[in-house]
Amino acid sequence: MIPHRVLSNRYTRTEDKPVFVRGLFDKGARYYDNVVDWGFLGSGAFYRRWAQQRHGLRPGMQLLDVACGTGLMATAAAQILGSAETITCLDPSEGMLAVARTKLNARFVVGRAESLPFPDNSFDFLTMGYALRHVTNLEETFREYRRVLKPGGKLLILEVTKPSSRVGSSLFGLYFGKIYPALTRLFTRSQDARTMMVYFWETMDACVPPESVLAAMSSAGLTAVKREKLAGLFSEYHAISPS
Ligand SMILES: C[S@@+](CC[C@H](N)C(=O)[O-])C[C@H]1O[C@@H](n2cnc3c(N)ncnc32)[C@H](O)[C@@H]1O
Repeated sequence: MIPHRVLSNRYTRTEDKPVFVRGLFDKGARYYDNVVDWGFLGSGAFYRRWAQQRHGLRPGMQLLDVACGTGLMATAAAQILGSAETITCLDPSEGMLAVARTKLNARFVVGRAESLPFPDNSFDFLTMGYALRHVTNLEETFREYRRVLKPGGKLLILEVTKPSSRVGSSLFGLYFGKIYPALTRLFTRSQDARTMMVYFWETMDACVPPESVLAAMSSAGLTAVKREKLAGLFSEYHAISPS
C-alpha cells in the first residue's frame, strides 16, 4: 500500500518519488529546524521527548530513529537516554544528516525505511517522526521495522493527520496549505523552504486514513497495534514486535 497517490505535480511514477523527496529535503535542510520550530509554536522538542517517554523509551535501550532528518527526534531521545551513544540515526538526505551530525554524537547512516541496512533483532526501540508519508510502501516499511526490532521491541511513529470533521479539515488546510507556506517564504526568503512546506501539506491532504496505516502495521506482523490521537491533529502509532 502506498501512503498517498502519486502527486503528479511533483513526480510522475512512485519509483521517482525517492529522488524527488531526497532533493526536497537536501535543499530545505538548512531551513528545517527554524521553520518547524515556529510553525508548531515551539512545542516540537517538548512533544517529541514526552511522546518517546510515555511510550517506554528508557536509558540503556538501543534506539533506531528512522527518517531522523536534522535530528530533532534523536536529540529529544538523547535527553531520556542520557547520551546519544546508543542511538542510530538513518535518513536518505545527506543535507538533513549534515545538520544532524552537528548536534549529536550518534551513529549516522544513509538509507531508506523500506530497506534498512541492519541485521535482524538489532534494536529495542524504533522511532519515526513525521515521515511515514514519504515512504514508497507501508507494508514493506513495517516488515523492515519488525525485522530489525528485537522480539518485544517497541515502535513509535509520530504523524500529523488531517482532522476528519469538515470544519477541522478546512482550518487545517488553510493553515498548513496556505498560511504556513506563505510565512515560511516570508521569513526564510527561500522558495525551496516554501516548496518543502507546501509538499508537507500536499502529502497530509492525500494521505491514506489512519485505519489503513494500522491495517498495514498488522499485516506486517506487528502486534499490539494502536493509534492515539492528540488535539485532534497528532497521531501516535505504536506497536510491538512479536516475541
Ligand atoms: C519532515 S522530516 C522529519 C524529520 C524528523 N524525523 C523530525 O521529527 O523532525 C522527513 C524526513 O524523512 C526523510 N525521508 C524521506 N523519505 C524517506 C524514506 N523512504 N526513508 C526514511 N526517511 C525518509 C527525509 O529525508 C526527511 O529528513
